[in-house]
Amino acid sequence: METPTASLPGGTWTLGDSPVTRFGYGAMQLTGPWAMGPPADRDGALTVLREAVEAGITHIDTSNAYGPGVTNELIAEALRPYPESLLVATKVGANRDAQGGWPTARRPEDLRTQVRENLRSLGVETLDLVNMRMGDATGTQSGSLAEAFGTLAELQTEGLIRHLGVSNVTPEQVDEARAIAPIVCVQNMYNLAHRHDDALIDQLAAQGIAYVPFFPLGGFTPLQSETLSAVAEQLEAAPMSVALAWLLQRSPNILLIPGTSSTAHLRQNIAGAALTLPEASVAELDRIGG
Ligand SMILES: NC(=O)c1ccc[n+]([C@@H]2O[C@H](COP(=O)([O-])OP(=O)(O)OC[C@H]3O[C@@H](n4cnc5c(N)ncnc54)[C@H](OP(=O)(O)O)[C@@H]3O)[C@@H](O)[C@H]2O)c1
Repeated sequence: METPTASLPGGTWTLGDSPVTRFGYGAMQLTGPWAMGPPADRDGALTVLREAVEAGITHIDTSNAYGPGVTNELIAEALRPYPESLLVATKVGANRDAQGGWPTARRPEDLRTQVRENLRSLGVETLDLVNMRMGDATGTQSGSLAEAFGTLAELQTEGLIRHLGVSNVTPEQVDEARAIAPIVCVQNMYNLAHRHDDALIDQLAAQGIAYVPFFPLGGFTPLQSETLSAVAEQLEAAPMSVALAWLLQRSPNILLIPGTSSTAHLRQNIAGAALTLPEASVAELDRIGG
């Protein structure tokens, strides 16, 4: 595909030595329900991916666990040969079971297998960015990440991974990872209503490390809040636009990866995130997560 030139809300951020648009795209919602199986509308899913890149997005988040294999294969089909500017971030640390569960898989041999599967399904020789996922979508879990993250650092030295990140982690695990190898991002759950990581975001900003909130719109249960609806109404904007604009305004190291299976929502989110929130609206929105 040709390298796009469009500019997007929020401008760019450099992950390691790779500039990306702060407005990115999260591919998990392209699968069947609950991130399992193929999409109901395969052509529609391919169109969403192509339109995201044509709009100028240069950061796509995925995992071989989505489907499993489904989002990676859709990304490869829609976007290969990949534009040089595109960075595809993936994550390892869990497999899928027949019930749609996410069993932990973090032994060195599990991680090596998952990295190989990501390389195959994305059709690349080096993964741009791999996040070591520790907790799960319900939150973080304490404990050492040294063996798991150390394995990814070895795979980076072997040339299979360009940049490393961590996901679903505590601040202590971030520090532990940084003592093993440089990280370019932390991917944790964060949005208007879940602000557990406020202090961590500020710390990472000072360290030049990106913070990539997953579930920026609330995930499988999209954000619902009377305050959000009221602010959106005052600004004549959609609530999801306000939620995204708020994240972009919250800190310059926040990168957006909102998910959608719909080109209409993709367009609405790109346009809506450009909204500038007045201070009074930000103060009102702060009450949601306070
Ligand atoms: N590290 C981790 O453990 C972890 C966990 C979960 C997710 N992630 C990553 O984070 C990314 C984002 O998370 P997510 O996609 O689950 O959640 P999300 O971005 O918070 O929300 C996606 C949901 O919002 C809906 N939506 C999007 N735009 C909308 C709009 N303008 N109006 C109304 N509804 C809208 C989507 O439905 P439609 O499809 O109908 O638009 C979808 O149901 C994922 O794609 C994945 O890459 C990582």
